[in-house]
Amino acid sequence: MDVTLRIKRYNPDEDVKPVFKEYVVAVEPTDRVLDALNEIKWQQDGTLTYRRSCAHGICGSDAMRINGRNRLACKILMQELGKKITIEPLLGYKVIKDLVVDMDAFFAAYKSIKPYLIADDAPSSGERLQSPVDRERFDDTTKCILCAACTTACPITWTNEHFVGPAAIVNAHRFIFDSRDQGAGERLRILNTQSGVWRCRTVFNCTEACPRDIEVTKAIEEVKRALLYEQV
Ligand code: SF4
Ligand code: FES
Repeated sequence: MDVTLRIKRYNPDEDVKPVFKEYVVAVEPTDRVLDALNEIKWQQDGTLTYRRSCAHGICGSDAMRINGRNRLACKILMQELGKKITIEPLLGYKVIKDLVVDMDAFFAAYKSIKPYLIADDAPSSGERLQSPVDRERFDDTTKCILCAACTTACPITWTNEHFVGPAAIVNAHRFIFDSRDQGAGERLRILNTQSGVWRCRTVFNCTEACPRDIEVTKAIEEVKRALLYEQV
């Protein structure tokens, strides 16, 4: 079947403002949006610019707005979208070119919550052991692929550039509730500041946007509860 992709194009070196350009592509219902973008880039217009790498929902590089919702282009099938598909860059970050946005602020926020194990004491045996129950406590947030779909779907991040954002809180959660980690207090103090977790208004856009089905809002609420009820 033929589908029309309406893609928001912008080259800051040449364009005064973004414009939509339409491309007609022959696709199978089971093709992904990424397949159609590749077809355009490789056969029709080599100037089309977007990020992608793994093509299997793992690297997180091809999050974009597809028919108004943040999705991974490599996970969404044509048959889910209809014959006219609008594709735009993620909201809230500066567009570098076409569908590529500047992710520096996103990764700075991620880095700010110390997304690594903090454990200064040497383990008593050769390994840092953990029970299955303790491992389960933070299992959901280990699934994050840092695609930024949640953070750029959040209306708070659109209006407050200092808000650390859902993805950073998800990754803080992953370590705060890890029984082997000793940095929970440090991370909770970081998230207890002006730009931290209290900026969240529980809109749930983040949970809806997550391609890994992480319960993002629940993770944020658990971090808030830890701040309210645990000694930090
Ligand atoms: Fe992407 Fe989900 Fe991680 Fe947010 S929590 S960055 S939406 S994988
Ligand atoms: Fe890696 Fe889509 S290309 S997640």
